[in-house]
Amino acid sequence: PSSNSPTEGPLGLERGICRAKGGSAGFKVAILGAAGGIGQPLAMLMKMNPLVSVLHLYDVVNTPGVTADISHMDTGAVVRGFLGQQQLEGALTGMDLVIIPAGVPRKPGMTRDDLFNINAGIVKTLCEGIAKCCPKAIVNLISNPVNSTVPIAAEVFKRAGTFDPKRLLGVTMLDVVRANTFVAEVLGLDPREVDVPVVGGHAGVTILPLLSQVKPPCSFTQKEIDYLTDRIQNGGTEVVEAKAGAGSATLSMAYAAVKFADACLRGLRGDAGIVECSYVASHVTELPFFASKVRLGRTGVEEIHALGPLNEYERVGLEKAKKELAASIQKGVSFVNK
Ligand code: NAD
Ligand code: LMR
Repeated sequence: PSSNSPTEGPLGLERGICRAKGGSAGFKVAILGAAGGIGQPLAMLMKMNPLVSVLHLYDVVNTPGVTADISHMDTGAVVRGFLGQQQLEGALTGMDLVIIPAGVPRKPGMTRDDLFNINAGIVKTLCEGIAKCCPKAIVNLISNPVNSTVPIAAEVFKRAGTFDPKRLLGVTMLDVVRANTFVAEVLGLDPREVDVPVVGGHAGVTILPLLSQVKPPCSFTQKEIDYLTDRIQNGGTEVVEAKAGAGSATLSMAYAAVKFADACLRGLRGDAGIVECSYVASHVTELPFFASKVRLGRTGVEEIHALGPLNEYERVGLEKAKKELAASIQKGVSFVNK
């Protein structure tokens, strides 16, 4: 591994050992795909998180440079880099939380499902490593198509005998972050005061904002509802088109990933009342996976909230979302069991 050897301080001195081992209290976090567009700002923000004592950066390219760079930040976490498949085990062993933004992003004209053929295999390999090296870790899965990659991860863990539905979380936080921003713009509020539940999944019509449950309580015209629903469902495409071939959301995604990872770590620490939306194994609908509000605690997902009262517009949206989600889930399951 590059930077900060796990066994000794920089000069091999005794007094460097405690910190180099990640001796301070805190959680051990790995980022898989750490040299990518999301991975780099995510690594930087996790290095700034006081709950993190050890940060492992894994990728198949460029981790030595990213690790050297980030390791110079004068924050508490010890940073270690891992390059290539042969160092995956080292990257994963002992981790409390594994965040996965590895995989290819969209270009204009593509759907998230168009990424399946490449990203499914990447996620499968990384999850096999997790099952072997840190089966108790919480997994935050970002790689698209999330609606299928989370079922892939679950199947890999089931085959390895390590599946714990409380510990596998698909990251849909960016949909909530966008929804809060766009709703705040319409209402003329500070986005930090706004809370929009977004349920379903993470692609097109499966992204279902529950505008009837916005906090603070408010009402919208039908025109506002149509505008907001469309903008939230197509926020990813808005960025893909603006980047014009240079990728998809990276900076807002890194922000959202850190917001979500921090919530998971505060839950692990035992903080009360940590509730965020996430795509998880669920009984909220008849589908095996669904995104909704979940309460995070010491064991991961400790409670999955019901959807609450939906209006007619949302009920119609839910049926559309479920139809597409069912196919995406089946595609992921079949990929592992083919
Ligand atoms: P990117 O191409 O900039 O970075 C991806 C990184 O993954 C690269 O550094 C690449 O080397 C690495 N990688 C590829 N194969 C790997 C493997 N086998 N093991 C480890 N690392 C590997 O892409 P990006 O913009 O960072 O996006 C990454 C993924 O996140 C995409 O699939 C994208 O669609 C998805 N995404 C999801 C959300 C969400 O809300 N869940 C938001 C934005 C992007
Ligand atoms: C997003 O919502 O920004 C991501 O899922 C990336 C994408 O392809 O849109």
